[in-house]
Amino acid sequence: MRESDYQFIRDLVYERSRINLGPDKRELVTARLGKRLRAMQLASISDYCSFLRTPGAKDEVANLIDVISTNHTYFFRESHHFEYLQTKILPEFAGRRRAECWPDLKVWSAASSSGEEPYSLAVTIAETLPALAADWAWHIDATDISHNVLDRARAAIYNEEGVVGHVPPLLVAKYFQRGFGPQEGKYRVKPVLQEHVTFSYLNLIDGPFRFSQPYHLILCRNVMIYFDRPTQEELIGKLAGQLVPGGYLLVGHSESLTSIRHSLTMVGPAIYRRSLSVKP
Ligand SMILES: C[S@@+](CC[C@H](N)C(=O)[O-])C[C@H]1O[C@@H](n2cnc3c(N)ncnc32)[C@H](O)[C@@H]1O
Repeated sequence: MRESDYQFIRDLVYERSRINLGPDKRELVTARLGKRLRAMQLASISDYCSFLRTPGAKDEVANLIDVISTNHTYFFRESHHFEYLQTKILPEFAGRRRAECWPDLKVWSAASSSGEEPYSLAVTIAETLPALAADWAWHIDATDISHNVLDRARAAIYNEEGVVGHVPPLLVAKYFQRGFGPQEGKYRVKPVLQEHVTFSYLNLIDGPFRFSQPYHLILCRNVMIYFDRPTQEELIGKLAGQLVPGGYLLVGHSESLTSIRHSLTMVGPAIYRRSLSVKP
């Protein structure tokens, strides 16, 4: 890829997603663009860049972000977060909910990729909440910038290795349907979990969030790592403002917030909390 084309792609990706592609990512980007060239039957990356400069290329920019962004994820990734949810957050919330007359439990998986993270949350909540607050309704909003991963998440069908390699066998049996015939080797999340999760498009860097209610818990994991510091700072501020007082924010373990300014309190590894004394 020509240096000028790489610069153009870098600037466009940064402008639309704030994903910060360093000079070392040139080969990776070249390889990933191959998919778009084949799909569009274009001969070169220069032709692709020329197309992206045309007024009709808006949808293609979304496809570009799709192929550039790293969607790697798996069930119960950073499992310590799910243990903390089960043993600390949910018991505490069940007590507060009664005392403070909370409505539904609301959870947000921001940058949910192909769904493994929100479905792991759903398994954890379905396993824990009935014993603590059987009548408490709960819902998970899951969002991502990539339409491609959102489609996969809504389909909720996963390869055997992805499921049996990461989900305990009893929970696989309880919450997944095993495919047969042409679906041999695939597992589908059962409707009993799917009905609690809604997937939608959201670009985390686009203006202020417009949610009608605050969240009790937000997971924003393994996406800030691609953003520069000012973007991270702005995002953390927006996420903190979206939490109920005493609500929790979980970030990826490699995404320490130590070097950025924020209003949250660290209560565990990659676990942050909004102050209890702020008004929602
Ligand atoms: C590495 S995955 C992390 C998935 C999951 N949170 C986890 O920790 O396993 C990063 C996800 O962030 C999404 N993403 C990247 N930039 C984004 C943005 N500006 N707004 C929303 N999602 C974004 C990507 O599409 C990708 O699915």
